Amino acid sequence: MVVGAQWGDEGKGKVIDFYAAEADVVVRFNGGNNAGHTIMFGDLEFKFHLLPSGIVRKNVTAVMGNGMVIDPDVLLKEIAYLRSKGVSSFKLLISERAQVIMPYHPVVDGLEESLKGSLKAGTTGRGIGPAYSDKVARFGITMGDLLDEKLLAQKLGAAVAARQRLMAAYGRNEELQFQKMLKDHLKMGGQLKKYITNVSSFLNTAIREGKNILFEGAQGTLLDPDHGTYPYVTSSNAVAGAAAVGSGIGPRAIDWVIGVSKAYTTRVGEGPFPTELRDDIGEHIRKVGCEFGTTTGRPRRCGWLDMPALAHAVDVNGLDALAITKLDVLGGLRRIKMAVGYKHAGKRLGGFPSNIRVLGEAEPVYKEMDGWDALKTEKWTALAKEGYDALPDAALEYLAFIKGELGIPIELVSIGPSREATIDLRGMPGIR
Ligand code: IMP
Repeated sequence: MVVGAQWGDEGKGKVIDFYAAEADVVVRFNGGNNAGHTIMFGDLEFKFHLLPSGIVRKNVTAVMGNGMVIDPDVLLKEIAYLRSKGVSSFKLLISERAQVIMPYHPVVDGLEESLKGSLKAGTTGRGIGPAYSDKVARFGITMGDLLDEKLLAQKLGAAVAARQRLMAAYGRNEELQFQKMLKDHLKMGGQLKKYITNVSSFLNTAIREGKNILFEGAQGTLLDPDHGTYPYVTSSNAVAGAAAVGSGIGPRAIDWVIGVSKAYTTRVGEGPFPTELRDDIGEHIRKVGCEFGTTTGRPRRCGWLDMPALAHAVDVNGLDALAITKLDVLGGLRRIKMAVGYKHAGKRLGGFPSNIRVLGEAEPVYKEMDGWDALKTEKWTALAKEGYDALPDAALEYLAFIKGELGIPIELVSIGPSREATIDLRGMPGIR
């Protein structure tokens, strides 16, 4: 399974696509269209928010697990987008237990953000939080409900009555159109019916048959509501353990967990970010790394690599190995820093603090290393073909340092957007 080891946007799309070449099934298990995965397949670039990245591959079954929140309108548009790009025969399964993002969820998302003042997370505005809130508050609608008019009418009746009041209490007096919502959602259910199924049963059969299943995490460890920088997080678990719950398999079926980290750190939205660079170097990284959100287009905040945060990700995900992405982006910087700890109120902190005030005030303790030259994309791709040892010495030292600090191997290094610009270290001594 592949999870984000930072605040999302680690380049998981490319990494997942790389491993998807060997997979029979690719499963998404958390989040919804707050995610944004960009993948290059041949000459074509695909940007997905909801569909599992494996969908572009003929032999892969793409699965959307029960842990997801799905906006059926967005999903239908994404399926149409896929077809418009020439991918017409794909295998897609959607869990009947996945929750539906209803039209009132994005409205409530915005209203609740506006009540939070400086504690607002800067959400994507897609209704993710309210959809998960409704799930645990038992006001949710599932994808399976869209196929059952009676049940949908019953559940929607209760949900609309309650959410109408909630919106009014928040000062929004817009009447929710129950009949229209019912009609629209039954129609969309009909259009999606052929994909909606018991995903758990499908996956468990696939496991028994020895199929290769790849779990595609959305967002990242530090956006996880239990293990991240709460409340500046998303609303579904983004750590490895969530894959079992979010797809209906047992935890022991997951036998390898890869954490994806950029060679630096980025964050979109609000919240503490100790190694953030608000200077020319941060600007350089944003520009060279094209650090703008796939979903909202917002400029990403950029900073140095943060080892305490990554060590936390190793622990809470049980990471077996790392995939390091965008190493090329750091090219051209004379010196490179990485946080090896934090100081707060004159004292060195142990580990990654859960207290966001402390994290926000923490001063990183940096280690500095030499940088390496900026190279053209084609040059990096050529280096990838030559292999790991062809990387600039300073870059090799940087990677060795990360490995040493975290105590797990790096099995993939990405040095450009294309599939070719990837160094696969599997099979090397010490790596699976
Ligand atoms: P939400 O998931 O839309 O509720 O947003 C909550 C927080 O998570 C915000 O800070 C978002 O910017 C962030 N977020 C959600 N999805 C992603 C993602 O895929 N990549 C990076 N940040 C994300």
